[in-house]
Amino acid sequence: MKNSLFDLEDRVIVVTGAAGVLAGGTARYLLEQGAKVVMLDLKQEVVDQIVADAKATISPKVSGYACNVLDRAMIESVYEKVMAEHGRVDALVNGAGGNMAGAMVNPDQTIFDLQFDQYEKVLDLNLKGTLLPTIVFVKAMVQQKKGAIVNFSSMAAKQAISRGIGYSNAKGAIDNLTRWLAMEFGMKFGEGLRVNAIAPGFFLGKQNRALLVNEDGSYTPRGKQVVAKTPMGRFGDQSEVYGCIHYLLSDAASFVTGAIIPVDGGFSSFSGI
Ligand SMILES: NC(=O)c1ccc[n+]([C@@H]2O[C@H](COP(=O)([O-])OP(=O)(O)OC[C@H]3O[C@@H](n4cnc5c(N)ncnc54)[C@H](O)[C@@H]3O)[C@@H](O)[C@H]2O)c1
Repeated sequence: MKNSLFDLEDRVIVVTGAAGVLAGGTARYLLEQGAKVVMLDLKQEVVDQIVADAKATISPKVSGYACNVLDRAMIESVYEKVMAEHGRVDALVNGAGGNMAGAMVNPDQTIFDLQFDQYEKVLDLNLKGTLLPTIVFVKAMVQQKKGAIVNFSSMAAKQAISRGIGYSNAKGAIDNLTRWLAMEFGMKFGEGLRVNAIAPGFFLGKQNRALLVNEDGSYTPRGKQVVAKTPMGRFGDQSEVYGCIHYLLSDAASFVTGAIIPVDGGFSSFSGI
């Protein structure tokens, strides 16, 4: 028998950035848990492919739409389609996010080399790309007096991590936004509206693999630094974020809002010495 505290059966869960590593894996996991999952990502052909694959291998309860999380009119139009399809939205996972090469200051560079246009793009994608879908999709949750939102923070949010200035600044703002929205929604829309975040540690994905692992599988100097500061002594596997997100989306977390939960093998609790 299912434990109803964690039951996500037929919950309508919208996932942005659903073609990504962590967000896509999460969307597929939620589908496996019986949720009705709506996958959103930038390109129609990519969305068609991930939806068809999830339908064929997991469950027919999946749909998807092309949606740029920075285009408010597009998000509104997708919202209308989701409401026409399901009549409700129980949860939103703000998975779209990421970094860009020009928004970094690498060891052989200084702040004078920062490409400010790319810095702004990274701020926009991670911060506005979380706030805009939230503003649109929370409307249904307000009507329902219930809903859960999960944002993606990062280890770059609380402590300075070399190189990624744009990403660090954006994820620091995500922590603040998560707390701010938790306060705002709880006080104005009621206790059923919750906003939390997970802060993943280091997971090998398309964005960071080359920075952390050499082609022969050995760690780069930065990969070695990360693993040395991770008490568990390894990188995370993408499947290891699913349980925390499941918890935050479920009624098991009914008194949890404004929390930013590290899923990091201990990285954030260890000073490194
Ligand atoms: N992978 C990691 O190790 C890691 C660690 C910490 C935090 N995070 C964060 O977790 C979240 C999910 O990460 P991931 O591994 O799934 O990322 P990913 O890079 O694998 O995927 C990101 C997805 O977002 C989509 N996207 C980009 N711009 C978009 C836009 N304007 N509108 C809609 N979609 C857009 C991309 O097409 C891509 O499918 C991100 O916010 C990321 O910054 C990831």
